[in-house]
Amino acid sequence: MEKINVVIYGCGVMGRKIAEAILDKESFEIVGAIDIAPEIIGKDLGEILETPGELGITIQEDSDGLFQRVNAQAAILTTTSHLKSVLPQINQCVKAGLNVISTSEELSYPWERVPDLAKEIDDLAKGHGVTVVGTGINPGFLMDTLPIFLTSPCLKVNSIKVTRMMNSAKRRIPFQKKVGTGLTQKEFRDKIENGVITGHVGLLESINMIASGLHWTLDEAIELPPDPVITDKEIKTAVGTVKPGEVIGLTSIAFGRKNGKKVITLEFNANAGVEEEYDEIIIDGLPSLRQKIIGGVHGDIGTVAVTINTIPRAVEASPGLIVMKDLPPVSATL
Ligand SMILES: NC(=O)c1ccc[n+]([C@@H]2O[C@H](COP(=O)([O-])OP(=O)(O)OC[C@H]3O[C@@H](n4cnc5c(N)ncnc54)[C@H](OP(=O)(O)O)[C@@H]3O)[C@@H](O)[C@H]2O)c1
Repeated sequence: MEKINVVIYGCGVMGRKIAEAILDKESFEIVGAIDIAPEIIGKDLGEILETPGELGITIQEDSDGLFQRVNAQAAILTTTSHLKSVLPQINQCVKAGLNVISTSEELSYPWERVPDLAKEIDDLAKGHGVTVVGTGINPGFLMDTLPIFLTSPCLKVNSIKVTRMMNSAKRRIPFQKKVGTGLTQKEFRDKIENGVITGHVGLLESINMIASGLHWTLDEAIELPPDPVITDKEIKTAVGTVKPGEVIGLTSIAFGRKNGKKVITLEFNANAGVEEEYDEIIIDGLPSLRQKIIGGVHGDIGTVAVTINTIPRAVEASPGLIVMKDLPPVSATL
């Protein structure tokens, strides 16, 4: 089997987890690593993994220089969430002839919210013969690609509701921080308002992807401000002990309306007090369907897997900006 050479662009928590998982796979080879964090530039990528070991891959800040030296087919881009901030990195990779597989939530379906940027990326990617795709567990799979796929046996779909219920204490530290763990209610509201923490990003992208997948024209897609979840007992988490009255996570709700009716509802619950984790998709239609993934899909493992498993699909796909619903179904890789 010919390996696909990849560069890890962004060596934070997800980039490291993806690198570690790729080392166990026969389908891929890591040929470079990029990051801007001064504390890791110049280190061997292997040194910062959970099971440290020399890999002979030095983390570089100079991406253009690295792209000239290595022969890579794809970049795994795990830097930031918002499209405006990842755009320069996408452009660099595309101009260097690399397919881009990114966990940037806003890249998962930019066609509705930032159509001009989407078109710019699409044109550039087509011009350089490569594919750009935004993916991950959510957005990317559980609240968009999977529900769309589940409508395959439906003659008619009236509405879709997707609920994720997860214990955030089991997730990586940046995730626990971005859902407000350990903050007071006031700090939570201030930090969300000022963009210091993002909460969950991507519900609107998922709604827009579902609508596009079902050829629905929505009147509107609305995301409500996230609601903090407050604990009534002390809870120990990786970001510290949270006292009664403080925030242990959040609930985010978004919906899409068509002809005045709510036809898509997404409910994202992530807090350190959740006992029963699950992911549930309810389709009201002909026939109606209800799928519950008992125990839920672990968000970090799921993101690592979906991202890696999307690499071959992206490399094989026609050039351009593509969204997950338009790729052939992604499956586990060797
Ligand atoms: N779609 C999904 O399902 C999904 C799932 C998980 C994560 N995500 C998203 O994936 C992204 C990465 O998550 P994470 O937890 O790994 O975050 P993280 O730990 O903060 O890692 C990001 C890394 O990228 C570096 N970086 C930032 N800007 C860069 C640039 N211009 N060039 C090179 N490196 C840069 C950061 O350096 P500094 O620390 O110095 O800024 C950091 O080392 C986040 O946006 C997250 O929300 C999406």
